[in-house]
Amino acid sequence: MSVATTTKQASSTGPDSKHNLQSAREAYYDKIAKFGMTPLWKVMESVVTKEPVTHCVPVLWRFKDIKTLVMESGDLITAEEAQRRVLILENPALPGQSRATNTMFAGVQMILPGEVAPAHRHVSSAIRFVLDGQGAYTAVEGEKAIMSPGDFVITANWAPHDHGNTSNEPMLWLDVLDFPMVNFFETSFAEQFPDKTQPTGRGDGDSLAFYGSGVLPDGAPAQMDHSPVINYTYARTRPILERLKKAGDIDKRHGARVRYANPITGGPVLPTMGAHLALLPKGFKGENYRSTDGTIFVCAEGQGTTKVKDKVLEWSQNDVFVVPPWMTYAHTASKDSVLFSISDRPAQEALGIWREES
Ligand SMILES: [Fe+2]
Repeated sequence: MSVATTTKQASSTGPDSKHNLQSAREAYYDKIAKFGMTPLWKVMESVVTKEPVTHCVPVLWRFKDIKTLVMESGDLITAEEAQRRVLILENPALPGQSRATNTMFAGVQMILPGEVAPAHRHVSSAIRFVLDGQGAYTAVEGEKAIMSPGDFVITANWAPHDHGNTSNEPMLWLDVLDFPMVNFFETSFAEQFPDKTQPTGRGDGDSLAFYGSGVLPDGAPAQMDHSPVINYTYARTRPILERLKKAGDIDKRHGARVRYANPITGGPVLPTMGAHLALLPKGFKGENYRSTDGTIFVCAEGQGTTKVKDKVLEWSQNDVFVVPPWMTYAHTASKDSVLFSISDRPAQEALGIWREES
């Protein structure tokens, strides 16, 4: 009796038995595949990961290279022909996907003197952060905003917008759009307008004066999912950083930092993307930080480094760099430096999935 039992146990765990079980499973997987089904237990660990898994990598683009290359494109195609003459800053780990992070597009747009980038609108929200040049405009929702370096211009979902350059120098800015998110949901719409430019009934700076000064026009709505301010000018925001620094309000990770806010709600400027501007005083050595929002940074002034995991990114004025989600990073500054940053944090917060750690 005991001999028979031993023999039976040996055969149920032997190589033949394992092989038979494996064959039976494979046959079963093939069978259910014909019905459009597949076993969760084979992929469980890769679809419900213990920690965030990112496919993008830390990367930096030098402005010197960006400017040289984008200027070359000026000889090859007009802004009108291209609709938007933009060089995509593509994360090298996501080739062919037109994105800097998994959720955000980044590109550098150039408009030469006299050019117009024709009016259109789309579901994707956009921001501009002005890098170089002075005096070109973005017209958004009837307001013509004349742009200067460091200005932060927003174009919300479906807002008509066009750009033009009536100055005598090329103008370059960083465009960041949320279209990878919009396309994830498969909800993109876009349209061109018959006229190249939109009529503008409001003056430069009207929206900042009306909504960004601690007062609101009487009868302003109590809710708005995006900011009514078109251009958060550097001239207005930069001195606030200096005041924060003077007041000693310097975060150990982020420096003296402000968040661009929707004055109607106090929330982010757009439902999908949010931005900050931070002053890192000379000699700043930031503490380690990580969060689940992948972030695009621009150095608006100064010089320093950002260590992302094991990679050190050395930045100076107008360089653009990416910190992927959940990668620990820390900034240092060798001069007084200003960093603009934008991420998908508002979208993550709205979904209840944003986390940070320091
Ligand atoms: Fe656009």
